[in-house]
Amino acid sequence: MQPHVSGRVLAVASGKGGVGKTTIAVGLAWTLAQITRSSRIALVDGDPQAGATSALGLTPPDAPLRAPAEGVAGLLVQRASRTLALARAVELEHWLRTVIVRADATIVDLSPALTDAMHAATLRCAPSVVVAARCDAMGLPNVRELVGLLRRAQCRHLIVPTFSSHTRVSRDAERCLRDEFGTSVASTTFPLDTRAAEAPIAHQPLPAYAPQSRAAVALREIVIELLARQLVVGPVEAGALR
Ligand SMILES: Nc1ncnc2c1ncn2[C@@H]1O[C@H](COP(=O)(O)OP(=O)(O)OP(=O)(O)O)[C@@H](O)[C@H]1O
Ligand SMILES: [Mg+2]
Repeated sequence: MQPHVSGRVLAVASGKGGVGKTTIAVGLAWTLAQITRSSRIALVDGDPQAGATSALGLTPPDAPLRAPAEGVAGLLVQRASRTLALARAVELEHWLRTVIVRADATIVDLSPALTDAMHAATLRCAPSVVVAARCDAMGLPNVRELVGLLRRAQCRHLIVPTFSSHTRVSRDAERCLRDEFGTSVASTTFPLDTRAAEAPIAHQPLPAYAPQSRAAVALREIVIELLARQLVVGPVEAGALR
């Protein structure tokens, strides 16, 4: 088995659809590249639905598991094809590792299906994981299940409450997350913001499309928190990247 590339892979997962994973993954990768001034931040679309691929205006490739990645929006982007769903975990892990070794840090956007082979492959690369947890009344069981999985896999993680707003439901959901998961919950939430919904239509990462928007500012704070917790690159690597 190849050695783990600890601290250099950050996956974005949720175990639930439509909670902001792709928006966060693309935005985090772009913001990380800006903050660290690295031209070697890889963004891997790990979802056969190819959300990150299309959010950046790209078309899914014919041949799956192709490397190297292509330069888009200052990132090394690895597009997803629908055939990703047919690949075995061992093939996906090999593919992922060829991307990881070429990058200063790799962000992987995962599908909502916790049981797919891409999740298994990604977890074998010892990633840190951003858990996108939508602030609604129904999300907690999914977060619990995913966090349990991550604990068993010994993956460090940061829970990011998403689509937060001033509604009572949202505030209650965020409080439940903080009560149950404590310091594993990010101090910054990813707020409900119409600019976030516009960015993929403009085929741009949210912070490039609307840098002053509340959601883009939140993403910057989340990246700073990830760096401070050494969840995306270690202290030596962060210094070397600047
Ligand atoms: N902060 C936000 N405020 C409002 N809308 C948002 C926000 N973030 C994302 N959206 C929109 O919500 C929808 C779902 O977001 P996104 O695709 O990022 O979620 P996802 O978890 O990746 O979904 P899937 O599980 O299907 O891959 C998209 O239309 C997106 O533009
Ligand atoms: Mg997605």
